Amino acid sequence: MSTSLLPNPVVYRGSDDKEFFKEVSAGLLQPQKTLPCKFLYDDCGSELFNQICDLDEYYPTRTETAILHDNIREIAQVIGPGCRLVEFGSGTSTKTRMLLQHLTDLASYTPIDISSGQLFDSCEKLGTDFPALEILPLAADYTDSLQLPESEMPAQKVVAFFPGSTIGNFEPHEARSFLHRIACLCGRGGGLLIGVDLIKDRRRLEAAYNDRKGVTAAFNLNVLTRANRELGSDFDLSSFRHQAIYDAALGRIEMRLVSLRPQVVRLANREFFFDEAEYITTEYSYKYSLSKFTNLAQSAGFEVLNVWVDRNRLFSVQYLGVRSDVHEVYGGLGEKGN
Ligand code: TRP
Repeated sequence: MSTSLLPNPVVYRGSDDKEFFKEVSAGLLQPQKTLPCKFLYDDCGSELFNQICDLDEYYPTRTETAILHDNIREIAQVIGPGCRLVEFGSGTSTKTRMLLQHLTDLASYTPIDISSGQLFDSCEKLGTDFPALEILPLAADYTDSLQLPESEMPAQKVVAFFPGSTIGNFEPHEARSFLHRIACLCGRGGGLLIGVDLIKDRRRLEAAYNDRKGVTAAFNLNVLTRANRELGSDFDLSSFRHQAIYDAALGRIEMRLVSLRPQVVRLANREFFFDEAEYITTEYSYKYSLSKFTNLAQSAGFEVLNVWVDRNRLFSVQYLGVRSDVHEVYGGLGEKGN
C-alpha cells in the first residue's frame, strides 16, 4: 500500500469484468468451490446489505453504533485533533457521521468503497450536511494497493476507520497482512478505529446470518445473479440455497451456497459440476476474543490503545495506534493479503 498522493478529482477504479471473470472461474475450479466475497457488493448487493444491518437478528450494526454513540467523546479525544480520516468499506457512511461531528479540526475525509453508486450518493449527502469538510472519495477495492487522493488540507496524522467487523471477513493471515498495510498507510502517529465482533454462543451467531425474512439469503444468492448478468453464466438460482453455520473450533461463521441437486453450471466455455449438497463458500466471518485480536493487531504493527464493548460483550470497538517499529514487525510489505 502506498501513501503517494494522486491529484483530485476522484479516482475511479471499479472492479472490472475481466477481474470478476478470472476470480469466479478460479474460485469454482478449486476442490472446495469459493466465490470471492467482494463480489457480493454490487449496487444491488450493497442495498441488500443495508437491509441486513437493520434486521432484528443482526446485532453487529446496532451494537457497534451504540458503542460509538455512548463513547463518542472519549473516542474523539483519543483520536485527537487534525486528522485525515480514511474509511475502508464506507457504504452509506452512517456510523462515520458521529465521528465527523465530534472529531476536532478534521482535515479531510476519504471514504473508500467498491460500490461506486453508493459511494457517490453518500458523499453527496455528506457534502450537504458537512459543507466545510473536504471529502475525497475513492471508488476502489481496498484490498488492492491504494493511492489516497491528494488533500489540500495538511493533516497531523492519518486515522483509518474500519467498522462492521469486516476484518472478520478476512482469513486471519490475510487480516494480519491487511492490518499491516493500513498501519503503513497511516504511518507514525496514525491509528485505526476498528469494529471487531466477539465470540459468543452459537445460537445468536447463526441467527444473525440466517434471518427469518431471508434477506441474508437474497444477499448471498445475489452473487450468482450478478455472475449470470455480468459473465453470462447460467446458475439456476432455485437450485441453490443459502446456509450459514458457525464453526466453533475455527471461530467463524461460514456462508455457503448449497447445491440442491446434482447439476452443471456453464461459464464461458467451461462446465462446473456440482454434486447434491456440494457447496460454494462465499464468505467467512471470523469472531475474536479480545486477547486473540490484541495478538493479531500487535503482529500487524499496531498496539491496542483502547477497547470499548457493550454491556453484553457482544461487540468491540478498538483504537489501535501504529507501533514505532511498524516496518520491522512484518515481512510481507506490499503483498496482497491473499
Ligand atoms: N462484515 C459482515 C459480517 O461479517 C458481513 C456480512 C453480514 C455478511 N452478513 C453477511 C457477508 C451475510 C455475507 C453474507 O457480519
